[in-house]
Amino acid sequence: MKPFLRMFILLFLGASLFSCHDSGGKHETADTLTLSIMKSPFGFVDNKEVFLYTLTNQNDITVKITNYGGIITQIWTPDKDGNPGDIVLGYDSLQEYLDNNPYFGAIVGRYANRIAKGTFTLDGKTHTLATNDGNNHLHGGEKGFDKVVWDSKEIQDSSYVGLDLTYLSKDGEEGYPGNLSVKVTYLLTNNDELKTVITATTDQACPVNLCNHTYFNLSKADTNVLGHILSIVAAQLTNVDNEMIPTSDLPPVAGTPMDFNTPHQIGTRIHHVKGGYDHNYVLDKTEKDLSLAATLSDPKSGRKVKIYTTQPGIQFYSGNFLDGTIKGKEEKVYKKHYGLCLETQHYPDSPNHSKFPNTILRPGEEYREITVYKFGIMN
Ligand code: GLA
Repeated sequence: MKPFLRMFILLFLGASLFSCHDSGGKHETADTLTLSIMKSPFGFVDNKEVFLYTLTNQNDITVKITNYGGIITQIWTPDKDGNPGDIVLGYDSLQEYLDNNPYFGAIVGRYANRIAKGTFTLDGKTHTLATNDGNNHLHGGEKGFDKVVWDSKEIQDSSYVGLDLTYLSKDGEEGYPGNLSVKVTYLLTNNDELKTVITATTDQACPVNLCNHTYFNLSKADTNVLGHILSIVAAQLTNVDNEMIPTSDLPPVAGTPMDFNTPHQIGTRIHHVKGGYDHNYVLDKTEKDLSLAATLSDPKSGRKVKIYTTQPGIQFYSGNFLDGTIKGKEEKVYKKHYGLCLETQHYPDSPNHSKFPNTILRPGEEYREITVYKFGIMN
């Protein structure tokens, strides 16, 4: 090899090594050169420092996550022409999340979705929770897990970068019994997956239902999501009353506008669904395995997201309450249906429905649920 060529290669390799971000003092090996995690200050809440973490993989997928509410603030993926774009709704600053956040990107809990009349009886004792959604309890109450500062720790391996977020929800917080110790691990892999692993343990029996509430718009919120194509692997859903509380029936979706077994554009039948989609689908599964729950794609940008989960249900919410009053990132106005959520979770109000899969966590047990978002391009 010519000396100048060898020198050039050595210089290039050296530059690549030093271009990696510092990741908590850990030195990257050759395998991890393309993965990075960067920590920046994002502000203060409750006298605690809040950070914004930037995770990047070898294919230039970038995910930004803050330890306030465990919120995913940005996900950048390439479109069909290779142009990167941010595919989730949110804000640029922490203050805007504090001022008004309809759960953009957040971890919701201790019980995601609704608990009727904010009450449930467990082992003979009746518990009362906040009623923050009309007569009912929604997404953990007045100050749920979306509004607290989590402890955070960066993690890195040869095939992923990630973040461990931990939070201790004290006995009696928002009316829930028991000290609940929660951990959310977000991992961005070189296979273009964002993996979330949520675990929890308790010292008293209590209901637990945790999920991420990201609003997707694969067209970067330049237009609404009615042109997105969706499929959901579910033959049934939980029937709800006019307050969106389950009646216990699990009717089949076949032959109704709720059926997403065959992929089709969300806008095709949404006008037949009063208020838009905001329903829990009963995923077709017989055991608690990590299986495909939904596929979302956008013919305009060519982007696709596949969602796999161990959870028994998925709430499909078509951004019905967005009304153009929120100005999000880059001054974009979020009008009705400008984002959609596919919240992997247990069925709503399970503590009051003995026939629904169990959501009561007891001392000595571990709550553990995994959801994977796999990013790609349509065929
Ligand atoms: C969930 C609920 C919706 C709504 C949104 C947030 O998806 O099911 O009814 O509360 O959260 O606005």
